[in-house]
Formats: sequence, C-alpha cells, structure tokens
Amino acid sequence: MEREIDGEILTIPQHVAIILDGNGRWAKKRMMPRSYGHKAGAQTVEDVCEFAGELGIRYLTVYAFSTENWKRSTEEVSFIMNLLRNHLKNSLERAAKNNMQIRVIGDKSALDKDIIDVITDLEEKTRGNTRLTFTIALNYGGRDEIRRAVQHIVRDAEDGKIVAEDISENTIASYLDTHDMPDPDLLIRTSGEQRISNYLLWQIAYSEFYFTPVLWPDFGKEDLIDAIKYYNSRDRRFGGVK
Ligand code: IPE
Ligand code: IPE
Ligand code: MG
Repeated sequence: MEREIDGEILTIPQHVAIILDGNGRWAKKRMMPRSYGHKAGAQTVEDVCEFAGELGIRYLTVYAFSTENWKRSTEEVSFIMNLLRNHLKNSLERAAKNNMQIRVIGDKSALDKDIIDVITDLEEKTRGNTRLTFTIALNYGGRDEIRRAVQHIVRDAEDGKIVAEDISENTIASYLDTHDMPDPDLLIRTSGEQRISNYLLWQIAYSEFYFTPVLWPDFGKEDLIDAIKYYNSRDRRFGGVK
C-alpha cells in the first residue's frame, strides 16, 4: 500500500515488528525505578498501535517479554506481568475503536491462568476486526518457537499425519506461532542496541532492519514515519539481481 506522508509517496510495510527496548534506561535517566519506565513503555505501545493503524500498517508485532526475561528480579517480572494483565484487560474497547485484532504469540503455558483466559477471550472477541492485526510476543523466544514446532511436527509424524519427505519450508512455517501472518517487512529496535535477542528468528530472513537510539517510552509517530522512510530507501532484492 502507498500513502502520501509529508509530501512524499511512501510504500507502507505490510508487517512491522518491533523490539521495544530501553524502558529501564529511560527511567534511570529520570532517577526513577525501572517499573516507571515499563509503565511509560506500555502507554507507548498503545499509542503506536493507533499510529500504525492510521498509517495503513496491517500487522504490528511487538516483543513484550522474552523467554530470557525471567532472569530479571521477581519484583520486575511481576510488575511487567501485572502491566500486561491490565493492558490485556483494557484492550477490548481499544481494539473495537481501532478495528484491531489482538493476538499473543509465545509459550502461553507458563503464564498465570487469568492472563491465559483474558488472552483467549480477547483473541476470540477481536477475530473479526480487520484494520490492524496487533500481536504481542509474550514469553516468546524464536528458538523456543522452533523447538515447539519441531515437537509438534514429530508428534504429527508419529500419528502418521505427515511424512519426512513432504516437509517443506512452508510446512515448518505452518507450525510456527505466526503461521497465518506474512513475514515482517521491517524490524525496528529502539534504544541503540543492534541485536535480535531471539526475536522471530525464522520470520526475519528477509526483513529490513531499522535501529534507532530513541528509548522506547519516547518513540512516537514521527519515529515510526522515519522508520518507514528508511524502509523506502532500501532496495529489497531477496537474493535476486535488480
Ligand atoms: C524493554 O525495556 C522492556 C522489556 C524487555 C520487558 P528494558 O527493560 O529491556 O530496558 P533497558 O534495556 O534495561 O533499558
Ligand atoms: C529484548 O529486550 C526482549 C524484549 C524487548 C521483550 P532485552 O532488553 O531483554 O534484550 P537484551 O537483554 O538487551 O538482549
Ligand atoms: Mg533491554
């Protein structure tokens, strides 16, 4: 899809994935506890969902909690889980207002029962919304996702539903949490770090990467537009020659 933004015709990436990072450093700069940064970061997530919908992005996938983030203090982990719990519980109204489908990827089995229940309910009730698919990666790790997919494939093979010779790249993709989504066109990471931290390892094979020093709580509509402008400056060859 194309859009005119600031007098420029820009191709809008269909799927934008974000590694939201820098909440802790944002709080530290203000001499506040890390939790203060997470709270501000949660508000930014809500705002960015709206901007993404307005700009015509069809899929927005944010990394909210990784399989490695359990290493943080119990205090920080429970603060983040509570924020997510509240965010999810308040999402139905925003989803309706923004015509937004909400989904969660990652290993949900390790989450508290009430969080799993809210997720199931939200996914079901927002399934018919069509403007934006907003996906939250929660207890998500790219390697863990592949591990769970392999486990599932082997089980299906044992049940005679699949044979080794028939396993294509599409078969593998169909066993991932993202099975019904296109791959990200653009991956954004805030806070100046330039690493993937176990995010969407399979899916980012041909994504364009945009790294910005902006700390996540400060990320706004202009920053998203800058990322889209950067995306438009890239020549995507997918291994071919142009
Ligand atoms: C991102 O901010 C949020 C999560 C990973 C949950 P951080 O908490 O990683 O913030 P920094 O990187 O310590 O600044
Ligand atoms: C990546 O951020 C995970 C999320 C954004 C949820 P981290 O802050 O956990 O990543 P590292 O530790 O800097 O690689
Ligand atoms: Mg971080």
